[in-house]
Amino acid sequence: MMLMTGAVITFLVGAVSAVPHAAIKRQVSQLRDHYDFVVAGGGTSGLTVADRLSEAFPDKTVLVVEYGDIEYAPGIFDPPLAVWGGVGASASYFIVQSLPLPDVKNKTAFVLAGKVVGGSSAINGMFFDRPSRHDLDAWASVASPQLDSSQNRWGWSGLYPFFKKSVTFTAPPAAVAQTYGYTWDTSVYSGSTPIYSSFPPFLWADHHLVRNAWADMDVPKLQECAGGNKAGLCWIPISQHPVTARRSHAGLGHYAAVNATRSNYDLIVKHQVTRVIYPNGSQSGPPMVELRSLANNQLFNITASAEVIISAGAFHTPTILQRSGIGRAALLSTAGISITVDLPGVGSNFQDHSGPGISWAYTKPGNFSPLPSSMSDPAFVADAVAGFGETPARGPYTLANSNSAIFVPLGNMSANSQTIISRIKGIVADGSAASYLPADYRDDATMVAGYNKQLAMIAKLLSDPRVPSMESTFATGTSVRAVHLHPLSRGTVRLNLTDTLQQPIVNYGTGSNPIDFDIYLAHLKYLRAMVNTTTLRKYGAVEVSPGNSTQTDAALLEYIKDQLVLSFMHPCCTAAMLPRQHGGVVGTDLKVHGAAGLRVVDMSVLPFLPSSHLSSVAYAVGEKAADLIIQDWS
Ligand SMILES: Cc1cc2nc3c(=O)[nH]c(=O)nc-3n(C[C@H](O)[C@H](O)[C@H](O)COP(=O)(O)OP(=O)(O)OC[C@H]3O[C@@H](n4cnc5c(N)ncnc54)[C@H](O)[C@@H]3O)c2cc1C
Ligand SMILES: *[C@@H]1O[C@H](CO)[C@@H](O)[C@H](O)[C@H]1NC(C)=O
Ligand SMILES: *[C@@H]1O[C@H](CO)[C@@H](O)[C@H](O)[C@H]1NC(C)=O
Ligand SMILES: *[C@@H]1O[C@H](CO)[C@@H](O)[C@H](O)[C@H]1NC(C)=O
Ligand SMILES: *[C@@H]1O[C@H](CO)[C@@H](O)[C@H](O)[C@H]1NC(C)=O
Ligand SMILES: *[C@@H]1O[C@H](CO)[C@@H](O)[C@H](O)[C@H]1NC(C)=O
Ligand SMILES: *[C@@H]1O[C@H](CO)[C@@H](O)[C@H](O)[C@H]1NC(C)=O
Ligand SMILES: *[C@@H]1O[C@H](CO)[C@@H](O)[C@H](O)[C@H]1NC(C)=O
Ligand SMILES: *[C@@H]1O[C@H](CO)[C@@H](O)[C@H](O)[C@H]1NC(C)=O
Repeated sequence: MMLMTGAVITFLVGAVSAVPHAAIKRQVSQLRDHYDFVVAGGGTSGLTVADRLSEAFPDKTVLVVEYGDIEYAPGIFDPPLAVWGGVGASASYFIVQSLPLPDVKNKTAFVLAGKVVGGSSAINGMFFDRPSRHDLDAWASVASPQLDSSQNRWGWSGLYPFFKKSVTFTAPPAAVAQTYGYTWDTSVYSGSTPIYSSFPPFLWADHHLVRNAWADMDVPKLQECAGGNKAGLCWIPISQHPVTARRSHAGLGHYAAVNATRSNYDLIVKHQVTRVIYPNGSQSGPPMVELRSLANNQLFNITASAEVIISAGAFHTPTILQRSGIGRAALLSTAGISITVDLPGVGSNFQDHSGPGISWAYTKPGNFSPLPSSMSDPAFVADAVAGFGETPARGPYTLANSNSAIFVPLGNMSANSQTIISRIKGIVADGSAASYLPADYRDDATMVAGYNKQLAMIAKLLSDPRVPSMESTFATGTSVRAVHLHPLSRGTVRLNLTDTLQQPIVNYGTGSNPIDFDIYLAHLKYLRAMVNTTTLRKYGAVEVSPGNSTQTDAALLEYIKDQLVLSFMHPCCTAAMLPRQHGGVVGTDLKVHGAAGLRVVDMSVLPFLPSSHLSSVAYAVGEKAADLIIQDWS
């Protein structure tokens, strides 16, 4: 069957090979009659898959449909705006605002998501760490309860080769390494993919204060944190070119670097994938892909002969599925959408990293220069801009945001950790966990079963002295935040029924599981202790926020609710890789349960968040997915 399809495809490609291919497509009239593979979303994972498929199968055609443009508009993390320029609108991202959050004083989460060729990798903070091996082993165990030994394993051993393959790491020049004390281990990298990972030739002059304060608190300094073990103090590479310090992203590494020689790889921009269509039923795939031109609203159907891959990111992948009739039947019927597959996990199980922070002031400041405050000096900024334009680049813009962090297990932060873990196990055991799920799916037995599995697994992770519960990044010295790495609360991404093609309605769910507040509190108390380390005392550090008059747990919880950062921009898990009876949307092969010829490949497929930022994960998941698809079609 597969072989026959292949033969037919080869013939058809031959028939249309006169069409010029390397250039970006802006109109459907510039496309082929049909494609073997259609990828919905030209972001971090999607372009990784498209690059690998078009490389592996010169005789098969690949189309990527991207909502945004190839023309890149700088975002908040790009010079000269960078972190100092504030948050403005940019053509390169969607701005997503959540519903008010009743558990955190009705605050709304403010989140960005890439809307450009390269997706979120083209606008992100460029912090390029990897998860802990234990996170991935935990995914494998919930995604594949029978722990099959097939190629589909998503544990550390199944994914690590793809983390390695997905990037090219370049060690810093010896002088830079010596100046800052950088350490690394090249054996955790082996790729030659043009997605770059490197250390910056610049740090703020007080960088060592926070680093030494953590060392005072006995956080062990690790030589390398990308090899699976990251409980400690880490140097983190940045996703940028080692010489020019320019952002490295999927649009460059997985499209622009290969399009000239890849005549079977087409990319159309400024088109929205509205839905997939199964005219002959969901068992008869692949589906057709319906596109909407953003220029004139016209709709088109594209035929895929091999597979359709949805890679629109954790906010938009569930909108495509829901518009296609793949989602919770009860919700879709209300919207008048006919049901293709009843899958309550679509747009459910939403998660993001969040966390509170502290700040302090120095009463006996050191004479450090430069500091971020130097960016208010026009002469300093002019030199920073000039330095960023030199080859090799130098100066503050080469640092992105940060290249350092600690990752600390719960047991290291709180004498209370066993109580917290027991509470998590308790709500699983007594059946009350479901009551904390979003109202529109807490009555679904499969979703509840999956949530209980996740909570049991997270309790296990939090009990493990090798698994981080909190991350705190730093680049300079007067504030730190505690990122809660394994949140228990869950939210939703649902269609806006007034206009299903516009932005979805996002319920962040932050704090809806009250045990998350116990964890925020444990993390916050740990952060506060670092203000009183030998290193910071030397400079007369005094806590400014929450301030030393805030001492009771009740007062600290109020503080947390007041100033919690609701999103570190890691939305995920809205089409989770879990068995269908546990509320899953895709299997370990990333195929959508019950829908033929359709996979999801992006951060929607994570069952729960790992101990890391997500861009490295998006690349590795893309690489692993491509490997699975290539094996199926070889
Ligand atoms: C502001 C910000 C800062 C971040 N900072 C970091 C960081 O420092 N380090 C880190 O590792 N991670 C960071 N992340 C997270 C990381 O970049 C993302 O998790 C990851 O890139 C997501 O990859 P993805 O493939 O799931 O989706 P994306 O890369 O977002 O790709 C989705 C693509 O689909 C397109 N699309 C959406 N809907 C449609 C549709 N209907 N039709 C066609 N196309 C569509 C979008 O335009 C986009 O290009 C950050 C994210 C953001 C937004
Ligand atoms: C490949 O894509 C890049 C980036 O958009 C573009 O500048 C270039 O012209 C394309 N190559 C060809 C041969 O069209
Ligand atoms: C949050 O909003 C709801 C609904 O509008 C309201 O009932 C509630 O009092 C608000 N809570 C706070 C803390 O403002
Ligand atoms: C956690 O505590 C253990 C035991 O004291 C110690 O060996 C380890 O280095 C600590 N880890 C971190 C990240 O603080
Ligand atoms: C549906 O079936 C018809 C008739 O057999 C066929 O021509 C068509 O290609 C099928 N479409 C899809 C998307 O499977
Ligand atoms: C796409 O296909 C569907 C199902 O066959 C059909 O109803 C719809 O009219 C088609 N759309 C276009 C623009 O041709
Ligand atoms: C839904 O869409 C309508 C129309 O665009 C808009 O007015 C409304 O605010 C949206 N609802 C939400 C909750 O975002
Ligand atoms: C700070 O640490 C010192 C020395 O360990 C200790 O004596 C003091 O009580 C601490 N102060 C605060 C406010 O915790
Ligand atoms: C508490 O804060 C005040 C003002 O910031 C400071 O003067 C005082 O020394 C602090 N006390 C302790 C015990 O740190």
